[in-house]
Amino acid sequence: MSAATAWVDIHSHLVPGVDDGARTLEDALESVGRMAGVGIRTILTTPHFDASLLSGPEGEARIVEVESAFERLVEAAADRYPEVRLLRGFEIMLDEPAPDLSDPRVRLAGTSSVLVEWPSMEVPPGTPEVLARLRSRGWRPVVAHPERYRTVGDIVELARTWRAEGAVLQVNHGSLTGGYGPRAERGAWSLLEAGLVDCLASDHHSRPHLALQLDEVVERLDALDASEQVKMLVRTNPLRILDDMDPLPVRPVRMDRGWRERLRRLIRPEAS
Ligand SMILES: [Fe+2]
Repeated sequence: MSAATAWVDIHSHLVPGVDDGARTLEDALESVGRMAGVGIRTILTTPHFDASLLSGPEGEARIVEVESAFERLVEAAADRYPEVRLLRGFEIMLDEPAPDLSDPRVRLAGTSSVLVEWPSMEVPPGTPEVLARLRSRGWRPVVAHPERYRTVGDIVELARTWRAEGAVLQVNHGSLTGGYGPRAERGAWSLLEAGLVDCLASDHHSRPHLALQLDEVVERLDALDASEQVKMLVRTNPLRILDDMDPLPVRPVRMDRGWRERLRRLIRPEAS
């Protein structure tokens, strides 16, 4: 099913040699091929960028470095995978709570949306205010992988607060298949069950041993009678973000008994 579906992926690390993702152009091209193989036709790749560097000379140098590596990737990928559209953004780490995002080069393909995360997979105090401030300045914060934060007691409640401030939530494919451990898996499904997820993405780091999980995610959601939600999460809403529009609401995913029981078993307290 997925190979013909033209999925859209707004979070990955494929620009060669600029972060902890693809190391070489060949690595990146192989990743593009693997993503094309699971039906992804639009890839928005998002190298890491610290918000604290944004306004200084280091920030400008970083943007120039990434742009030129990205151009090389686009050129090479156009030859080998002409069916794939490659776009670029950044994943902005909010080590600075009030960053200036007025430069369109740091946002998602020049739209008003910007992919953000907090440092060290921990949620600092005051995150709703940070998101509200970004939104009030005309930018649409897309919070990357909320399910992966370690310090959160109830991710569903926090996610509601973030959304109330105008944030968009992006969950990783791999979280839904257990690739980031039981806490992220439980968090990801709880968010889907609450209807709080706007889109899914791979966060692919070009590591061949970490298989892409999209096929498995589609299969699991289809089995839960959530094919409509899959299309919203992996195509409609990512495309709306790229068209600079707010995502549409996604209906809650209804768990069946077996799946609910499986998630309950994941709830056991973890050591970390
Ligand atoms: Fe990422």
